[in-house]
Amino acid sequence: MPSSKKFSFDSLYAKSTPKGKSGNPPIRGKYDFAVAYPDPNSLPIKELIESLTSGLEEEGRNLAIYPHPQGYEPLREFIATKVFNDRNIKTNHENIILGNGSGEHLYMIAEALLNPGDIVLTEEFVYSGTLAILRRFQAKIIPVKCDEQGMIPEELEKSINKFHQKNKPKFIYTIPTFQNPLGTVTSRKRRIKFLEISKKFNIPILEDDCYADLNFSKTSEPAIYSLDTTESVIYIGSFSKIIAPGMRLGYIIAQSDFINRINAIKSGGGVNEFAAIAIHRYSIKYLKEHIESTNKILTRKRDAMLAALGENFGSKAEWSKPNGGLYIWLKMNTKIDLSSLREESLKSEVGFQPGDLFSPNSDSGKNCARLCFGYNTPEEIYEGIKKLAIILEKNQIL
Ligand SMILES: Cc1ncc(COP(=O)(O)O)c(C=O)c1O
Repeated sequence: MPSSKKFSFDSLYAKSTPKGKSGNPPIRGKYDFAVAYPDPNSLPIKELIESLTSGLEEEGRNLAIYPHPQGYEPLREFIATKVFNDRNIKTNHENIILGNGSGEHLYMIAEALLNPGDIVLTEEFVYSGTLAILRRFQAKIIPVKCDEQGMIPEELEKSINKFHQKNKPKFIYTIPTFQNPLGTVTSRKRRIKFLEISKKFNIPILEDDCYADLNFSKTSEPAIYSLDTTESVIYIGSFSKIIAPGMRLGYIIAQSDFINRINAIKSGGGVNEFAAIAIHRYSIKYLKEHIESTNKILTRKRDAMLAALGENFGSKAEWSKPNGGLYIWLKMNTKIDLSSLREESLKSEVGFQPGDLFSPNSDSGKNCARLCFGYNTPEEIYEGIKKLAIILEKNQIL
């Protein structure tokens, strides 16, 4: 009889494999300001069904073969046209690779560029998914001071100068439009400055533009990619924020040599063609209109959150007033530790992300919180913020 003792993989893992983590989804509150979910009621289910049906009727038989390694060509062509119209980015389908969400591209870019100990410069608070990937590749992540216009170019240059001689930074990662979590938008002038710095030190920029379409105003700042003349910018975008994260489709745009290297990393027989066909048919017919209506809904939600914060937090906190994206960044007195209240808050069904989760070195931001206004209704947002204020009052914070 073979022994029934459980096999252990402990001595077999690669040195770089991170410690175990439960694959269970996080516990969510009724008032879910923690994660960036879109409005569930405005997901275009009917239109997606129609798009998938017509797409499959037209070319469903092609699912019998593995997709193009860079993903469904008609969708890449659509993306090339979209980024030209919306972001003045001149590219073509050959310079685009589809991926399983833009998160997959962040991973592949990190894999392509990073050796352990390499430096990546980024905003002083930044998307925790990117941080997890950079840590996975053992990057040294250097936070650059920000103000209400995002990363400060002088501070960026100062940081580069500090490390340049001994360990030249590998790339600058920025979310210049409706930054996650700060909600800031970098001005055109600063974007140009970033490119000057990039050129001066020969360091590429990774521009994560996944919130650019969630713009509640009539003005916008140009994509850094569109201002670049040296092909030093890598651009990523996603359908997660404008259709649904469950579609798992994002894209990378870059110069041909870099695209070829990413192609060499990408494995798994291309990208889900089933989703790509649906997104392609849907986008041609409905996406523009859907983004417009999504932005109207999100504007009302943002306003509800701003009003609730004004009524319940008054002068005891500061918060951003973003003109787009999905987040409000709440900042309290530096002595206050909001991260310690996360569990208690969840018990009262209010989810939020404490600011230290977005800190590259986890050493600041405990007095801050990221509040996502995408998921709940304006009424629920109003109730939830009130509940959060009651929890803080109970803990003598408000
Ligand atoms: C700045 C940023 N980049 C990338 C992603 C990853 O998005 P996805 O993989 O769903 O395209 C997110 C998700 O929240 C994000 O906020």
